[in-house]
Amino acid sequence: MSSASFDELIASKSIVVLAGTGGVGKTTTSAVVALHAARAGRKVALVTIDPAKRLADALGLDELSNEPSRIDLTPDDQTTDKAKTTGELWALMLDTKSTFDALIHRYSADPAQADRILSNDFYSNISNALSGTQEYMAMEKLYELAEDGDYDLVIVDTPPSRNALAFLDSPNMLARLLDHWLYKALMTPTRKLLKASNLLLKQLSKVVGGDVVEDIVAFFQAFEGMEDGFKERSQRVMELLASDACAFVLVASARRDTTIEAAYLARQLADNDLDVAAVVMNRLQPDFVRLKRRPRAPEFEPFLQAHDELHALADREETHIESLLSQVASDPVVVRVPLLATDVHDLDGMAELQAKMFQT
Ligand SMILES: Nc1ncnc2c1ncn2[C@@H]1O[C@H](COP(=O)(O)OP(=O)(O)O)[C@@H](O)[C@H]1O
Ligand SMILES: [Mg+2]
Repeated sequence: MSSASFDELIASKSIVVLAGTGGVGKTTTSAVVALHAARAGRKVALVTIDPAKRLADALGLDELSNEPSRIDLTPDDQTTDKAKTTGELWALMLDTKSTFDALIHRYSADPAQADRILSNDFYSNISNALSGTQEYMAMEKLYELAEDGDYDLVIVDTPPSRNALAFLDSPNMLARLLDHWLYKALMTPTRKLLKASNLLLKQLSKVVGGDVVEDIVAFFQAFEGMEDGFKERSQRVMELLASDACAFVLVASARRDTTIEAAYLARQLADNDLDVAAVVMNRLQPDFVRLKRRPRAPEFEPFLQAHDELHALADREETHIESLLSQVASDPVVVRVPLLATDVHDLDGMAELQAKMFQT
């Protein structure tokens, strides 16, 4: 399929989630897709996770923030058509902790309960360190922005998690946390359970110290009555991800190791009944002429060698792309993006990539 259908795909969705392993160009691709949609006239929110410093600077994202701020799309050359867009691009750099805090506030019965949780030392530790927290909060932010209805399109760059499962499982993270045996033991203390948990807590105290255990117990106790709210919300996030409004875009580079990771991610999506709508193959060898007749003069030798090596590399890339696509169960739009001469760190670089990605 062509890049024209990538344009159509993005135009038909209100949520786009980009997945892929770190370093393949996921954050850059998210920004370019967002820019493209905004220039097409839509109001777009981009949730970024870890933009390269210079890209963040170019987007005016100099710090973590929980609310989107508007990015000026006016090109330096005001005479172009692009200056006339009615679209808007809003972006934020995910602040995991504040997003988590907001969630606690939302589901607490009263401000006192929220305070008990937020001021708990154990909470401060887990809200950043618990595996899957960043993934969960990215989904949480997505849900919040999609629910608000302020935007035509919400684009979410996902964290560079090594483990695709963590990302897909993340909507259930809090629900799982509250399914914890310790939580249950504390909330519904049948005699047997209470005895067992007291014994275990004593053992635990010896290892990590009584204060820590007290914090943990207080933490779980502070959650009383909140689990249903969390579970319900997790379910709604999953429903949103599975709905027609949402598309998953897999970003990969055409190397053996990254396509293996991408195929694994595609399988995880499939296992969760989620389709890969598009595969963006990024940083490919630029397409350049294949010599039919080889000049014989010896001074051409180094060029011929470079020519042969680059074409061999391009052929190998095609093998990796084919192998990846054969492992993606859905019939995704395939987008080929060449490696640009320089990093993408400003609106001009993004525009160049946009032209390649959407063939505008
Ligand atoms: N097609 C491309 N051509 C040249 N540089 C690219 C391209 N795509 C991404 N980059 C660069 O690669 C680096 C990593 O990209 P990034 O989007 O941060 O990756 P990820 O989010 O997957 O970790 C950045 O410096 C970015 O500018
Ligand atoms: Mg990134």
